[in-house]
Amino acid sequence: MSRIIILQTTIHQILNQSVPDPEKRAVRIAHLHGVALAAVMLAKRRGEDAELAAMAGLLHDVYAYIQDSYEDHAHQGADYARTVLQNLEF
Ligand SMILES: [Fe+2]
Repeated sequence: MSRIIILQTTIHQILNQSVPDPEKRAVRIAHLHGVALAAVMLAKRRGEDAELAAMAGLLHDVYAYIQDSYEDHAHQGADYARTVLQNLEF
């Protein structure tokens, strides 16, 4: 299974547990995928790593969604994203 699919599945599991409202969860998942797509397009245009860009896009707001707050989400979210990636078996 590709790393993107593994990460996507993991993020969906995390959001299924932390965002009980299905409509809110669907909007948030759509946002993460939209940002991931934009990141891939930018990475390809600039000759950067598209997979890494996709992973960053998928993870970029997960911590904020878990907390239901954007307070310090960049720093806290980076730490959280690092933990998620370290716990995955790539
Ligand atoms: Fe966002």
